[in-house]
Amino acid sequence: MGLLEDIKAKAAARKKTIVLCEGEDKRVVEAAAKITAEGIAKIVLIGNAEECAKVAPGVDLTGITLIDPLTSDKTKEYAKILYEARKAKGMTEEQAAEQAKDRTMFGALMLKAGDVDGYVSGACHSTANTLRPGLQVVKTAPGIKTVSSCFIMIAPKDENKYNPDGVAVFADCAINIEPDAQQLADIAVSSAKTARDIAGIEPRVAMLSFSTKGSGNDDKFFKSVPKMQEATALAKAMAPDLALDGEFQFDAAVAPEVGQLKAPGSKVAGHANVFVFPNINAGNIGYKIAQRFGGYMAIGPVCQGFARPLNDLSRGCNVEDIVATVAVTALQAE
Ligand SMILES: CC(C)(COP(=O)(O)OP(=O)(O)OC[C@H]1O[C@@H](n2cnc3c(N)ncnc32)[C@H](O)[C@@H]1OP(=O)(O)O)[C@@H](O)C(=O)NCCC(=O)NCCS
Repeated sequence: MGLLEDIKAKAAARKKTIVLCEGEDKRVVEAAAKITAEGIAKIVLIGNAEECAKVAPGVDLTGITLIDPLTSDKTKEYAKILYEARKAKGMTEEQAAEQAKDRTMFGALMLKAGDVDGYVSGACHSTANTLRPGLQVVKTAPGIKTVSSCFIMIAPKDENKYNPDGVAVFADCAINIEPDAQQLADIAVSSAKTARDIAGIEPRVAMLSFSTKGSGNDDKFFKSVPKMQEATALAKAMAPDLALDGEFQFDAAVAPEVGQLKAPGSKVAGHANVFVFPNINAGNIGYKIAQRFGGYMAIGPVCQGFARPLNDLSRGCNVEDIVATVAVTALQAE
């Protein structure tokens, strides 16, 4: 069974309830029906029956719970939760009452209230609009200050010389633009959790750079080498039992002969399967190189570090992408 099928099967066994916020989108309605028919999760779809019938005529909505913030008797309760979460930031009760009717905010409030186990949106909203409600009300997991994202990278064939697991985790390729050392440490610890929980591998985390153990420096420019060294130390302090090391060039991270030469004694050098990039440019370019030149399949971005699981879809997603994201979200749920 491939990893994606495995994720869907594990999700189905967990019977979690996931909210899909965009009942106005044909792909989302179709995915809701498919997920329900295949038993991958229980779906709450934000929207109403007339609208769904209009955008996705003929789709069977049996078993899907539809909820419309404009008519729901929950909206007032959620507005109170929103007001309590944001009053210190200057939100008034009137503003909370208005914002709770927004579908993505309503979905995030359902998650915060514990009425669903996970949240998926973003088929027709930007990343910022999809994640902001979560950042504002769901907030981060204990011990983590940074929400981040990763891609689960599946090798084109099971065996790969530099990736014997056949799967790797790349982070952060989609959220944090220029993370500082503490944010990089949070990304490393969260990515190790995703590697275990979703990719099903025992993480060996490499903090990536153009330098290996001080071989290069950029003191006159961005000081990214000392930043990665500091991030490595912080991540080790956060998760002392985690196999994590750096800073490494990519070849020192994955090729045993290079790792041994450049970082003798490191348990991670030459054997890494989780890769933390120094910034979003490196991460985003890196995962796309693996996809296009290396033939890897990318699952994600998978959001990590939230107190409860929220995930963002690409606006170019198809029905299968939504199904996969719901399955991943169900596995992230407690
Ligand atoms: C994640 C992102 C969407 C947040 O943007 P934003 O909504 O403008 O964020 P804000 O700066 O207004 O912050 C909103 C709140 O979230 C918090 N926050 C923002 N980013 C956070 C993060 N990564 N982790 C934890 N909290 C975060 C802020 O501290 C703030 O909290 P507060 O209002 O309680 O003080 C933004 O970092 C982003 O746009 N990243 C790049 C996304 C992108 O273009 N990706 C390309 C796709 S491949």
